[in-house]
Amino acid sequence: MADTKNEMLETSEAQIAAHWKEEEYYYPTAKFISQANLVDHDVDKRFSLENFPENFKEYADLLDWYKYWHTTLDTSNPPFWRWFVGGQLNVSYNCIDRHLPKNKGKAAIIFVPELENDPPLAITYQELYVRVNETAALLREFAGLKKGDRVTIHMPMVPELPITMLACARLGVIHSVVFGGFSGMACGDRIADSGSRVLITMDGYYRNGQVQDQKEKADIAVAQAKGLGAEVDKVLVWRRRQGKNLSVTPMLKGRDYFMDEILKDYKGKRVAPVPVAAEDPLFLMYTSGTTGKPKGIQHSTGGYLAYVTGTAKYILDIHPEDIYWCMADIGWITGHSYIVYGPLALGTTSLIYEGVPTYPDAGRPWRVAEQLDVNIFHTAPTAIRQLRKLGPEEPRKYNHHFKLMVTVGEPIEPNVWRWYYDEVGKKEAVIVDTWWQTENGGFLCSTKPALNPMKPGSAGPGVPGIHPVVYDEKGNELPPGAERAGNVCIRNPWPGIMQTIWGEPERYVQTYYAKYCKNQQSKDWKDWPYFAGDGALYAGDGYIRILGRVDDVINVAGHRLGTKELESACLTVPEVAEAAVVPVIDPIKGRVPEVYIALKPGVTTDPKEIQKKVISAIENIIGKMARPSHVWVSEDMPKTRSGKIMRRVLTAVSNNMPVGDVTTLANPEIVEHIKIMVQSQTKRTPAGETPDDIKRFGQNE
Ligand code: WTA
Repeated sequence: MADTKNEMLETSEAQIAAHWKEEEYYYPTAKFISQANLVDHDVDKRFSLENFPENFKEYADLLDWYKYWHTTLDTSNPPFWRWFVGGQLNVSYNCIDRHLPKNKGKAAIIFVPELENDPPLAITYQELYVRVNETAALLREFAGLKKGDRVTIHMPMVPELPITMLACARLGVIHSVVFGGFSGMACGDRIADSGSRVLITMDGYYRNGQVQDQKEKADIAVAQAKGLGAEVDKVLVWRRRQGKNLSVTPMLKGRDYFMDEILKDYKGKRVAPVPVAAEDPLFLMYTSGTTGKPKGIQHSTGGYLAYVTGTAKYILDIHPEDIYWCMADIGWITGHSYIVYGPLALGTTSLIYEGVPTYPDAGRPWRVAEQLDVNIFHTAPTAIRQLRKLGPEEPRKYNHHFKLMVTVGEPIEPNVWRWYYDEVGKKEAVIVDTWWQTENGGFLCSTKPALNPMKPGSAGPGVPGIHPVVYDEKGNELPPGAERAGNVCIRNPWPGIMQTIWGEPERYVQTYYAKYCKNQQSKDWKDWPYFAGDGALYAGDGYIRILGRVDDVINVAGHRLGTKELESACLTVPEVAEAAVVPVIDPIKGRVPEVYIALKPGVTTDPKEIQKKVISAIENIIGKMARPSHVWVSEDMPKTRSGKIMRRVLTAVSNNMPVGDVTTLANPEIVEHIKIMVQSQTKRTPAGETPDDIKRFGQNE
């Protein structure tokens, strides 16, 4: 066990995290504070542990309930928390219908197509209401879907994606949105795991100015699911352009249907929102973990919607009159919580952009912001780094003004943060660095924008009602100011926390709670800290600085990838005997995967061929976003005497870090071979901005 724990620390992203010095505070402007939703210093007291769990009523009261709950939190079966028990509501009603009396003519969604000559499309709350109703009618009557059924949605960034999600929510159907960039095979695995009979997709979309065929993935997905014993009987295909088919893939008669054709039969149809229990699942979202199989994170209806609405109001400072633009993909949790559900529940205007931020050039986001007068902007460090690299002075050319900007998904380097603040935000926008995960539903750590100063590179304290704690490997608390990195956990449950892993309750307990739960028989929630799987430093001011994952997950440009999934994909290439995937620091994407493989004895294929095969296996089985930066073919892997591959050593070589003592390995000489191969073909410099200040996670234990 001790060995495994060590291995966890040593091969992780956090291992290669570059630390930087303490930074100066930045303060919100008086102008921002004067209009902010949360200006009340009492909030910390209100959301203190003494007031837990009733404090979270404040969020649930932002929603309309058909039936008010009787128990705010039921903790009788830890760690299966049940929030707002007895309550009934409907998410689609809360995001649409309730805004109609006052705001039916207001834009709910503004869709910005990637092609700049295509005009933006505004969809009012009334139009959204009509489209969601018609879609819900189709799903119920044509596809035969009802409350509790699962549906897999594999779509690009178009308004039809939230329309489909909201139509599911109207019926109580559980949606499982798979990020559009995932391959057909990856989608098929998720269809099978969730037991979806219906797949909803789109013919194609635009990316980097090119048409991408999305429908072709549907055929692969259905075949993959079938191989796993799951039968898909309907594939519903939205069309990106009216009257055109952007996919060359044929439609299969009796299985595939164009949504626009079927929708004609449901014109003007209305579907009463189905009241569901607060505890009924709203959606599944698959995410990578330590083992090969992705986990179907199950989110509730009431707790989830209350939490994303409350945090969107207080941390994103969303007011109904704002124009809010989050550039994340709706296929990831950020898009679910903070493009669709939180903003629409608050009745604001949420902008959806189809394409890549740098198309056709690095001025695009600022042109969009200027034209549509966006005042809240939400993106990830990867996009910020890319925009800074390609157009450092672009933002100055445009007359956009943000009151608040968000960074999410990866640690942000202080100099990247400062560019965002100075150039993009023009020193007037507040930045919130929000740390959280798919499993959490909404934010965990961030500054409260009008109340706490910002500190570049640090997420900040726990958001209202979230009480973080940092433990060392042995379970000792590392208090604020401890100057040692540890594992960040949350002491208490909160309404946005997942309910379980779909179909794998035991894995849920093991992954998130077993590590620091001292007594698994305990019925006291205080004994069940939530283990996030991130390394962190707790500064003296109570701000948390996230270093990266401590498990076998690599965060590539904000996409969370399991190294074990990548390794399994490599092993499908017949010549490959062994594979190891490690994270490498990348100046734009944060981290990229690098692959080491050893070939089966007697294989004489040209290594270049093998490299190509490995890359295409990864792209087909997972998706293009998982493409490794290098595939190193070696005659062997560094191994312990018991035959375990030492990924720690490979991580060190790939990041040009000291490999440490390798004399106890079974084959120490191979390390030198690999080092020479890697260093002769790459020009790696040690990771991080201030190499003299590097204090690495795990080395100070
Ligand atoms: C990382 C994305 C540093 C972290 C919302 C976490 C961050 C993983 C931040 C979850 C941040 C997220 N600073 N790291 N502000 N936000 N992360 O599930 O390692 O796609 O565990 O959720 O992203 O990724 P996920």
